[in-house]
Amino acid sequence: MNVEIINHNLILERLSTLRDSQTSNKLFRQNIRDLSVFLVYEALRKTELERREIDTPLTATNGWALSTSPILVPIVRAGLGMLDGALSVLPDSNVCFLGARRDEETFQPDVYMNTIPAELNGADVIVLDPMLATGGSLLHALQVIAESGAGRITAISILAAPEGIEAVVSSGLNGHLFVGEVDEGLNESAFIVPGLGDAGDRQFGQIN
Ligand code: PRP
Repeated sequence: MNVEIINHNLILERLSTLRDSQTSNKLFRQNIRDLSVFLVYEALRKTELERREIDTPLTATNGWALSTSPILVPIVRAGLGMLDGALSVLPDSNVCFLGARRDEETFQPDVYMNTIPAELNGADVIVLDPMLATGGSLLHALQVIAESGAGRITAISILAAPEGIEAVVSSGLNGHLFVGEVDEGLNESAFIVPGLGDAGDRQFGQIN
């Protein structure tokens, strides 16, 4: 996996709002959406284009179209908040869902939903998850997607721990990881520090 940390002042600004424990769920969701737009935009910087003839009001000329619209795979729950922003950049993308909740004792992902087809036939895929902590959830998703025969695989996380990045890099999987910011590390509960708390709870609330 190739890793790119996106260095941008707007990312730092929106991320600071996410970190603030006083930020409401509504504002948290809005900022997750903004950050998703920024990160998907950056992740597509070198995407493949094909020529398309177009007529301007003045003359015929060469234009460009995306060669393909990648399938979006938000990791439910927290990744759901990234979907709307990603679809605003890639309105023709199809969407598959992978539901994973981390076991807070073993830190392993408990996968409870997967709508990724067994055969992806070379389709490009973008995985969306705001948090990359131990890397267990993202690695599971990447493995499922690779085994289904995806083409170019991209993962986008807003905030990562060095441990999660290392796990993804040393996995031997092929693909590209785009990250908004890297924090100090994980605490004893495998939460990212300083982090932003639980991105699922902060978007959708916590119901016991
Ligand atoms: C969080 C987050 C990632 C995962 C990251 O989800 O959204 O999916 O943990 O941790 P990892 O890198 O150690 O796997 P969580 O399990 O809290 O579920 P949720 O999205 O439903 O809140």
